[in-house]
Amino acid sequence: IFAAVEMAPRDPILGLNEAFNADTRATKVNLGVGVYFDDNGKIPLLAAVKAAEEARLKAAPPRGYQPIEGPAAYNNAVQNLLFGKDSALLANGQVVTVEALGGTGALKIGADYLKRLNPAAKVYISDPSWENHRALFESAGFVVDNYAYYDGATRGVNFDGMKASLKAMAPGSIVVLHACCHNPTGADLSDAQWAEVVELCQAGGLVPFLDMAYQGFAEGIDADAVAVRAFSASGLQFFASSSFSKNFSLYGERVGALSIVTANKDEAARVLSQVKRVIRTNYSNPPIHGGALVAAVLSSPELRAMWEEELAGMRDRIRAMRTGLVDAIKAAGVTQDFSFVVKQRGMFSYTGLSAAQVEQLKSDFGIYAVSTGRICLAALNTKNIGYVADAIAKVL
Ligand code: LMR
Repeated sequence: IFAAVEMAPRDPILGLNEAFNADTRATKVNLGVGVYFDDNGKIPLLAAVKAAEEARLKAAPPRGYQPIEGPAAYNNAVQNLLFGKDSALLANGQVVTVEALGGTGALKIGADYLKRLNPAAKVYISDPSWENHRALFESAGFVVDNYAYYDGATRGVNFDGMKASLKAMAPGSIVVLHACCHNPTGADLSDAQWAEVVELCQAGGLVPFLDMAYQGFAEGIDADAVAVRAFSASGLQFFASSSFSKNFSLYGERVGALSIVTANKDEAARVLSQVKRVIRTNYSNPPIHGGALVAAVLSSPELRAMWEEELAGMRDRIRAMRTGLVDAIKAAGVTQDFSFVVKQRGMFSYTGLSAAQVEQLKSDFGIYAVSTGRICLAALNTKNIGYVADAIAKVL
């Protein structure tokens, strides 16, 4: 059966973990995968999560099957975060939310459902985008193309190019948009630009699919939901995938959600029934633990306040690492302007390092980054930042 099977390439992001783990150098640094580490280089277990976990352990609840779409307490908590608790869409019952296995799982449920809904549609992702977007939508059977997004010269968004791309798309096309903290570039749209994108999606009859994996990592919970709120106010129907991997530091628990904004409550019930079929035939129903922790934290005023403070702490530390890296690169004698790193938002910086320079960082220094030049600032700390800056200076 397997004689002709070819070796698949390593995953461009998670494959770096495999290589990093096999590296025996004590000074190695993993700036590849998007994971937040604290100043001691550890993935934090948030105090709010720990408290919820201890309460659960004490209560020792049974482990029956969950509803196919996940528990209402979790899905409602997700909706309040994304759409705002006073959202008219929520009050009208127009939004379908299902628990999913992380943001990736949410994207895949959405992609599989869209394939049933509109099999001939084309999917557009930003140029560049998260490596897995293309692979994921292609594996759902779609043809995937790019829309203009990043401008390497300004290190910002090529907004004229993006608008031209949106205008050229056929009605019914699916547009994957990064709701905040663009991965990999860190270059986000302004509020005014989001308003224009909403208008263009409306005028072109496009199907927006917002991917929000980093809510709270740019400015704050509500500020980072600006795109979701702008689409919500437009009357458009759209998809939104969200994740608690980063903002709850629950990576391996695979906690995310897919939300679909429909035209009315009746439509929402029909859409939910179809999405449940997609889930049932994939993994039946979601696991309990991670979602239960998130629901417990978000429904307790004390734990929620604790979480918001911890989230702000992670956000501030990443910002400090951005400034610190720019200063340290300068101190290492580099004259090239790296101040753009401070303007980028979220976990990542698109450094402009070439694939060859990234390779040299790995081979000479044990510093791992994505071959596109993307580094994860959240893996820097006060101990390794100087080493990384010196290494960057050397490969430059
Ligand atoms: C990343 O981009 O590094 C993260 O979103 C992790 C992943 O699943 O790729």
